[in-house]
Amino acid sequence: MLADLVIHNGRIVHPDGIVDASLAIAGGRILAIGAAEAMPAAKETLDASGLHVLPGAIDVHVHFRDPGYTHKEDWDTGTTSAAFGGVTTVFDMPNTVPATANAQALAEKHAIAGSRARIDYGLYAYLGESSIEQVPEMVAGGIIGFKLYMGETFGKLATPSTGAMLEAFEVVAPTGKRISLHAETASIMARREARMRAAGRTDALAHLAARPAVVATEAVSRAAVLAEWTGARIHILHISSAAELRPLAEAKARGVDITGETCPHYLFLSADDYARCGGVIRVNPPVREADNQAPLWKALMDGTVDMIATDHAPHAPPEKTRNDIWSVDCGFPGVETQMSLMLSQVNAGRASICDYVRWSAYNPARNWGLFPRKGTLQPGADADLALVDLGQDMVLDDAALHSRSKISPWHGRRVKGLPIHTLVRGRFILRNRTLVEGTEGWGRSVHAIQQMPPAQVRNADKTMQAIIRLPG
Ligand code: NCD
Ligand code: ZN
Repeated sequence: MLADLVIHNGRIVHPDGIVDASLAIAGGRILAIGAAEAMPAAKETLDASGLHVLPGAIDVHVHFRDPGYTHKEDWDTGTTSAAFGGVTTVFDMPNTVPATANAQALAEKHAIAGSRARIDYGLYAYLGESSIEQVPEMVAGGIIGFKLYMGETFGKLATPSTGAMLEAFEVVAPTGKRISLHAETASIMARREARMRAAGRTDALAHLAARPAVVATEAVSRAAVLAEWTGARIHILHISSAAELRPLAEAKARGVDITGETCPHYLFLSADDYARCGGVIRVNPPVREADNQAPLWKALMDGTVDMIATDHAPHAPPEKTRNDIWSVDCGFPGVETQMSLMLSQVNAGRASICDYVRWSAYNPARNWGLFPRKGTLQPGADADLALVDLGQDMVLDDAALHSRSKISPWHGRRVKGLPIHTLVRGRFILRNRTLVEGTEGWGRSVHAIQQMPPAQVRNADKTMQAIIRLPG
């Protein structure tokens, strides 16, 4: 069989080790990995001397804003930025306009993403009190999973009561889909924010003061109880504090199907950066006190936290630089810088590059039913690759970001480790750090290849649907 591309002299990175080998691609899939002499003839070869070949990152938490807020980002700019960051699949959040909360809005987003995305993607559906009845039609319309907001954040999508949340979990549990949670408890932070605003606080640190770690810890604990009761699979988004790790670890120990992500800003930034960044650092959950960082790293190393995602949340500069912190939009871009930030820590000896691919690709693929088509370098897998130069350093520059949002707390930070080529299903999207023309619309929705394990429903006889049926 004639391969489309054979990559020679690269170091192939797996979660459990590195292999110096050649890698052949045919028909968008990995055909073979092995000795150069054992590779089939190829239309094209690439010399990857000095580069590590990683499974492309799967970022399970991005906001590409399209439709609705395309002045912040769209599917073209978002996926271009991702390709520059070595990211080959993203899961996009539903807080767009219209919200991805019914089959029609979902179909509309599929049409836009399908024609513009350069990399693969999954779409999240909004799960709230108003969309419980739409769960079946959204599953049928092609989603990667659900998103439930336990607290208010950008877009102000409604936060369900605990009662509605239980019912939502009951309805999703039999579908086997994972529910990703913005785990911050609305009532705690709304009350604290209102009192601080009344008292006249408008400084950047007031944002952190409104949302101390207990806001997230209470939400994680409560979500885990509901997941345990219903058998729904859940994922804790953007874990920001040491305090959340205990309810997460305890739920895992009880057998709850719960996963967690943290983001570079919780690993690298702290309360000490608010003075430097002002409102630019405002994000939900907030960047916290520096003593949260070491426990988050430890949790990544020991598997309590499963993965790295970015919560790429682009906004326009005027929306990030208002004086009153309460009027600053929350979040900042991250999909392009995650890999370099993390590889810098690999260079510093804090983790191995094998650990990194476990967090960036392998665990995301496994927990959303995409493995072994994605998240791994093995024959039969999609040829989604990030070829990185661990020796190349650069200073992050907001103006150089390919996101439409050119404002972030990373500006001026030195990183070492850079994606040089990014391939999605065998096609170069980024080549020699240059975007390949004509790749718009190459991205495909990964819901079609998703295979979640069978659902493990609990307490089916006690659900809302069960109890409203008249006896007899
Ligand atoms: C996100 C956004 O802007 O959409 N903002 C944020 O601060 N993280 C929403 C979210 O993920 O909470
Ligand atoms: Zn969130």
